[in-house]
Amino acid sequence: MAAKAKLCFIILVISVLALYSGCAIAKQDPELKQCTHQCRVQQQYDEQQKEECVRKCEEYHREKKEREAEKEGGGHEPDGYWSEENQTSKKLKECQRQCEKLDRGGERQVCVTRCQQKWGVKDRKDQKGEEYEKHNPYVFEDRHFSTKVQTEHGRVDLLTKFSDKSELLRGIDKFRLAVLVANPNAFVFPNHFDADAIFVVTQGFGTIKLIHEDKRESLNIKKGDVIWIPAGTPIYFINRDNNEKLFIVKLLKPVNIPGQHEVFFDAGGERAKSIFTTFSTEILEAAFKTSGDKLESFFEEQDQGPFANASKEQIEAMSKHEESGGARIWPLPFPLPFGRHDTRGSSFNLFENRRPSQSNHYGQLFEVGPNEFEPLEILDVKVTYANITRGCMSAPFFNSKATKIAIVVEGDEGYFEMACPHVSSKSSKDRRSHDPRSFGREKSGPNYQKISSRLRPDTVFIVPASHPLVTVATGNKNLEILCFEVNIKDNVRYPLAGKGNFVQQFEKEAKELAFNKREEEVDRIFKSQNEEFFFPGPRQHGGRAYE
Ligand SMILES: *[C@@H]1O[C@H](CO)[C@@H](O)[C@H](O)[C@H]1NC(C)=O
Ligand SMILES: *[C@@H]1O[C@H](CO)[C@@H](O)[C@H](O)[C@H]1NC(C)=O
Ligand SMILES: *[C@@H]1O[C@H](CO)[C@@H](O)[C@H](O)[C@H]1NC(C)=O
Repeated sequence: MAAKAKLCFIILVISVLALYSGCAIAKQDPELKQCTHQCRVQQQYDEQQKEECVRKCEEYHREKKEREAEKEGGGHEPDGYWSEENQTSKKLKECQRQCEKLDRGGERQVCVTRCQQKWGVKDRKDQKGEEYEKHNPYVFEDRHFSTKVQTEHGRVDLLTKFSDKSELLRGIDKFRLAVLVANPNAFVFPNHFDADAIFVVTQGFGTIKLIHEDKRESLNIKKGDVIWIPAGTPIYFINRDNNEKLFIVKLLKPVNIPGQHEVFFDAGGERAKSIFTTFSTEILEAAFKTSGDKLESFFEEQDQGPFANASKEQIEAMSKHEESGGARIWPLPFPLPFGRHDTRGSSFNLFENRRPSQSNHYGQLFEVGPNEFEPLEILDVKVTYANITRGCMSAPFFNSKATKIAIVVEGDEGYFEMACPHVSSKSSKDRRSHDPRSFGREKSGPNYQKISSRLRPDTVFIVPASHPLVTVATGNKNLEILCFEVNIKDNVRYPLAGKGNFVQQFEKEAKELAFNKREEEVDRIFKSQNEEFFFPGPRQHGGRAYE
């Protein structure tokens, strides 16, 4: 146990150091020397295993040189992302990158699809692609979304069930993630769904109406608004802007079938069948006291939906705060814990009238949890929003028990790295063969794999509880990441570096035992970064952070 713990800290230190030193050791041949030396001194190996280990060192070294040569010319891609892909898929990437320049909505999707047709989706799925997938069970891209609705006025994309990507994600399977895009002036038809939901507006301006029993709540919404929609609440909304699209990211927790929700259209139309028209005519006649013919033509005359184009006048009328005063306040379905700040109502803005919980030149973190916005308590979720300054990074940290469901909402490029024990221990040996440094760990303790992936707008990534993570903004813009942290109750965030890192809490003896160094040396490492939570990124430290 002690040995394990110690190893754990060593690895932790190594990974933290690696972020600063830029893996300098990996640069020179001494690395190969070091590696083979390591093989020879492993007491638990017999001669054959030692030979095998040495062979792997050489293989690794050679592959690494090749990869470096390939990367010459400016790619700054995280390890394991590009390296295993060939020319065809590079073309695909290039093509898709061009698409990114387009508007974020439908056009881009079409462009991406064309690229895939041209350069082949299969490419990603062939052996290496598939291997890559297996090793990155935590990352979801465009193709992991399925389009549920698409009309000229908007679209809804639903992310695949988490466990469909990997069994490792079944812990969050009760949640689903969806993105709604409503074009300028679009009206989204009245609907309700069998899921509790949190909507977060990531771009644009809208007005949303919620029907609570005999009251109508009206909210003018904008970027940063977090809206609570209890299961079954009828809602409808408009994008009240003339030019900008309205983007809403939704976290859903279905109440009937875990991980599966259904949307019921309360008015309907051709493409969105109304809940009314499913009943038999006799029933409708009796229920509405109206003849079947009239009802038939009434319900069939709508030929659009679930989006429609609203006129300027309609938008103006609907976005007026007609119910303001009263309607925003409605009884919560649970008692308000004593002494809490009363923030009833269905929405809360992440940015407005509040300070970020972390802020310096290198980034800002905004958070809203159950303490600030009670409805979040029902889903046991906290919403956070990180704005990482371009070229900067977040501190490596882990959440004690919350799992992060993160989506990149603004920016152009970045990447994340995560220490992950599951992937290396569960899956293939050949991955391990890429890194002989992990070879000897097989018997002696936990084995972590670095999971890394490039981040672009709409990339979704999952960070399980207790997994150390770091995110870096490498592009020309700030990287803005929206996160739902689920299982937030009693969660603690532990920074591994920078001000407040948890190693500073160790007493002298523990520092010395855990790191096998004098306390001053331990402190020198753990106190040299005195920024908190956001730091200058690896490039500003002379580059070469990941290779
Ligand atoms: C690259 O991928 C394509 C598509 O699967 C394949 O046809 C081609 O043979 C691959 N090339 C190399 C060098 O692996
Ligand atoms: C929606 O209506 C506006 C004017 O109200 C018009 O300019 C626009 O082209 C319409 N959009 C569609 C897709 O019909
Ligand atoms: C992120 O930071 C940039 C630069 O400071 C700022 O312009 C932008 O508004 C910020 N985004 C949010 C959502 O606060």
